[in-house]
Amino acid sequence: LAASFGNGTLAGLEVVVSAGPTFEDIDPVRFIGNRSSGKMGFAVAQAAAEAGARVALVAGPVSLATPPGVARRVDVRSAAQMQAAVLDACTQAQIYIGAAAVGDYRPAEVAERKLKKQAGAGLVLQLAENPDILGSLAARPAHPFLVGFAAETHDVARYAQDKLQRKGLDMIAANRVGDGLGFETADNALDVYWADGMLALARAGKAELARQLVACVAERYRAVRG
Ligand code: CTP
Ligand code: CA
Repeated sequence: LAASFGNGTLAGLEVVVSAGPTFEDIDPVRFIGNRSSGKMGFAVAQAAAEAGARVALVAGPVSLATPPGVARRVDVRSAAQMQAAVLDACTQAQIYIGAAAVGDYRPAEVAERKLKKQAGAGLVLQLAENPDILGSLAARPAHPFLVGFAAETHDVARYAQDKLQRKGLDMIAANRVGDGLGFETADNALDVYWADGMLALARAGKAELARQLVACVAERYRAVRG
């Protein structure tokens, strides 16, 4: 409880965390979604609160209880809704941690009525590109310290460092998915990169890993923004 009253490495800071997948509706009964339980993002939100931050958690469709200490939770479904909620919350915040697995595409049109199966024929869905939430934050003149996540199946370091640069991020936490790590699992491991350094966080439970990540974010934030 003490953490929420201003002690800790993030004391006095507002932190926005996004977590979970987004669901992009095809029709009233079907959607396209990403594999994400939201557990890592929720653990990060809890760890940030424990570190003394005032935390707003923007959550995609997950079945998780709000972690203790989190000041505000906004539940969303689609990437567009998540973008609006994150941009709104970030007008106040000093740090944004994008742990959500945001859908890159959505059906170009959402059918108002359930699509009926045409026996013997395939179905082609036209997809439109979703907005990039981190990108839209980075484009704002005064934006929070930006922390991204990257889930990769291969060439983790190369893709993570590329995303760090391309998206204009301050830090990126990369994890390899597969091999019993990453999605829908208890354990995770993260390689954290910033412009001139990196830190490897060894395989651990998501709560422990989130605490280590938050400690690293706090240190980098203080180094760059005071
Ligand atoms: N992200 C975002 N908005 C999107 C897509 C991703 O803010 N529309 C954020 C994620 O929350 C994450 C980071 O960008 O913090 C990296 O997401 P990732 O899917 O790995 O990157 P992409 O640029 O979408 O590249 P790809 O999926 O092709 O690997
Ligand atoms: Ca993506």
